[in-house]
Amino acid sequence: MAKEVQTDQAKGPEHVAIIMDGNGRWAQMRGRPRLFGHHAGARRVREIVEACPAQGVKYLTVFAFSTENWKRTQTEVAGLMKLFRRYILRESRDLYESGVRVRFIGDRVRLDDKLVNLMDELELLTSGNDRVHLTIALNYGGRDEVTRAAKRLAYEIETGKLSYKDVDAETLSRFLDTHVLPDPDLVIRTSGEARISNFLLWQSAYSEYEFIDTLWPDFTAEEFARVVGSYGARDRRFGAVKV
Ligand code: FPP
Repeated sequence: MAKEVQTDQAKGPEHVAIIMDGNGRWAQMRGRPRLFGHHAGARRVREIVEACPAQGVKYLTVFAFSTENWKRTQTEVAGLMKLFRRYILRESRDLYESGVRVRFIGDRVRLDDKLVNLMDELELLTSGNDRVHLTIALNYGGRDEVTRAAKRLAYEIETGKLSYKDVDAETLSRFLDTHVLPDPDLVIRTSGEARISNFLLWQSAYSEYEFIDTLWPDFTAEEFARVVGSYGARDRRFGAVKV
């Protein structure tokens, strides 16, 4: 049966998620090592976070390292891990002072203790902030997240805290890394690839997608504003028929 759905497109997306792709190609085009591109990419993250309030974007989620990225060379993986540690050390104060609340999603088990400690500290430091909610996906994979959630849910059932009869989409969502976040309204992927690559699989069931040709290190606040602005022209119905 047709269901009336209220959509508030004029407001723009509240939650934007980004697959930051193209760092490697950006560096290679300049004859530089791939890590040079990742460093340039990290600088863009800050610019885009800063651009969020003016666009009415309250939640920004970025894909920094996937569960599949471990397959890259040891040099690149180690360089990225070092970059994440340095990023947190260098940016913490500024993020805190500019009202950004930082969260990390993904499986921390495989990350080194030094990095995990820095992640915990930054989450704690910024936990009182509410201007922009920045979520960094680190060792994150959508299937891995749903699998970990299912495991925890199964444990609750096995230990008698839940009945299998209680299991529905809402219950499972509570076990996801993203349980405190709204679903993304808009997912942007840079660098011309039109794939989801295991990013927020469950949460993006009704998200709009924008695939942009620009390589991530070239993705400016102006382009972000344009892409976010174009979202207002869309008509999301969440599977229902607009009447
Ligand atoms: C994909 O580009 C990018 C990554 C795997 C790493 C993303 C990391 C950053 C943008 C920097 C750090 C971020 C934070 C939050 C500190 P690619 O290497 O796959 O590019 P390619 O497709 O051109 O090879």
